[in-house]
Amino acid sequence: MCGIVGYMGPQDGVPVVMDGLQKLEYRGYDSAGVATFQDGRITINRSVGKLRELEKKLFASELSGSPAIGHTRWATHGRPTEPNAHPHVYEGVVVVHNGIVENYIALREELAAAGHRFSSETDTEIISHLIARELARGLDFCQAVRAALNQVRGAFALGIMYEQEPEMLIAARKGSPLVVAHGSQQGEYYIASDIPALLAYSREVIFLDDDEMAVCSPAGMTIMTVADGREQQKEVHQIAWDPIMAEKGGYKHFMLKEIFEQPQAVSNTLLGRISEDRRKTDLQETGFTPADWRAVKKIMILACGTSWHAGLVGKFWLERLARIPTEIDIASEFRYRDPLVEEGTLLIGISQSGETADTLAALREGKDKGAKILSICNVMGSSISRQSDGVMYTYAGPEIGVASTKAFTTQLACLMLLALDMAAARKTMDDEEIAENVEALLKLPALLEKSLILAPRLEQIARTYHHASDYLFLARGLNYPIALEGALKLKEISYIHAEGYPAGEMKHGPIALIDENMPVVILAPHDHHYEKVVSNLQEVVARDGRVIAFTASTDKRLADLSHEVVKIEEPGEILNPLVYVIPLQLLAYYTAVFKGTDVDQPRNLAKSVTVE
Ligand code: AGP
Repeated sequence: MCGIVGYMGPQDGVPVVMDGLQKLEYRGYDSAGVATFQDGRITINRSVGKLRELEKKLFASELSGSPAIGHTRWATHGRPTEPNAHPHVYEGVVVVHNGIVENYIALREELAAAGHRFSSETDTEIISHLIARELARGLDFCQAVRAALNQVRGAFALGIMYEQEPEMLIAARKGSPLVVAHGSQQGEYYIASDIPALLAYSREVIFLDDDEMAVCSPAGMTIMTVADGREQQKEVHQIAWDPIMAEKGGYKHFMLKEIFEQPQAVSNTLLGRISEDRRKTDLQETGFTPADWRAVKKIMILACGTSWHAGLVGKFWLERLARIPTEIDIASEFRYRDPLVEEGTLLIGISQSGETADTLAALREGKDKGAKILSICNVMGSSISRQSDGVMYTYAGPEIGVASTKAFTTQLACLMLLALDMAAARKTMDDEEIAENVEALLKLPALLEKSLILAPRLEQIARTYHHASDYLFLARGLNYPIALEGALKLKEISYIHAEGYPAGEMKHGPIALIDENMPVVILAPHDHHYEKVVSNLQEVVARDGRVIAFTASTDKRLADLSHEVVKIEEPGEILNPLVYVIPLQLLAYYTAVFKGTDVDQPRNLAKSVTVE
């Protein structure tokens, strides 16, 4: 949700923090702030709105110094105003926070009764008051932070400085992500909510675990538990992402760049997971064996948003290819319905960020009930990946645009690999069938390139229909999740109301919405649903709806029936969702561009939702 960056060392920390915040702005962008030591005193600059507003202020104030901490906010408690923007300070204790202090009302009342006065409506400010209270009781900075955090319930990732300790920077984590890294110079340290903020400075990072804090001083960095101050030995992880991957690289928006990266991202995701003879899959990296796959009685997929849509396609593949009964649940629903998790259940968690609070909590619930967890994540070392018994990483590289694109197609690639691996282990497909599907998967990146060539056509369609106030997306079978994804993309970035529906369900209600102003996107691949989808399309035409049809490159019928036709080269029924989603991403993208919305940082959204 919010983004945190901190620096301590010989350089001026303000530009380092601002550079990091810029990389994390996708996490929240309603206000931002930076604090540093300038002339021996802590100085704070904050502003409402995007980071560029803060930049203007910093330019005018010539703020510089070290250590420095900064924050970009996605409001939870308290509106996006300057007093509510981070950093928060009380008696020299400065705090930036990502997460939610659940017991903040009780703590605030307790502190207010003891004479504390607050200058914001946030839960975060409580933390600086609590630390200040412990300092006043005679504890040193590090002890005071521990004592304060042990009173806090909820989730936090924190960067903390104290005016009386100008050579200390503390980072602490419980439930919200935080990475730390050493710089190249003695006494140089970085902290951040997410890896992209650090890539330009270090690719060797340490992931803090829950209830851990890092205490940085010129003498070194010590990582200890918050509860009892026990020192922890931590593994240093090498990050394969390149700093250039987190730049726009000449594209107008990250989203467009990420759409165009999909052939490469899918190809990277397949790499090393297919045998040399190109006939079978190899998923030893998951730690699950063919015997484990044979023991699976049921699969439950848990995810949110776009990742949930990938899971819907995955359910279809796992049932059809591996013949394993598969349920899928929206993570935020699963947790609160006391789900039945029987013996032999494998939970699959899907998450680009690996930090989505709902998915994490749902997986924990399933684990407590005895299930094994396999996760499909894009961010190495993320909370979900570390909670799992096995991980399949999607090698999409950093996804910065809030609207997820390349994460989706790489999640699908992982799910297909998984379904084939399980099918081979369970002998629900013979070797020849597996080899044919593996071959089709290997040809996918080239077909994804062909879908991208359609960009100018989608731009044209977007120009024609961008004034519409509603859109309907229809499809059947395993393309129904793609209709949902097309609708989600459109509403997220263009703010046009859009609904995805199974085409056969249209006559049970949504048909009432159709009139001459309603664009209806219909996915009509050449699969066994084709005739039925064409009938649904005719029902739309009969009610004057504006049909935008997506169909096979060989189609001869839909041009006469539709207002617009987009023809797509198909890999074959089973893999069609991957090539059909790309034009829908492009349609949403160009529509948003014509409407002049903020494509990469659409209103009210944040890239990784680390609160429930
Ligand atoms: C997708 O475009 C969204 N911004 C959102 O639905 C996202 O997919 C969802 O929040 C899940 O995120 P995750 O994959 O990081 O868990």
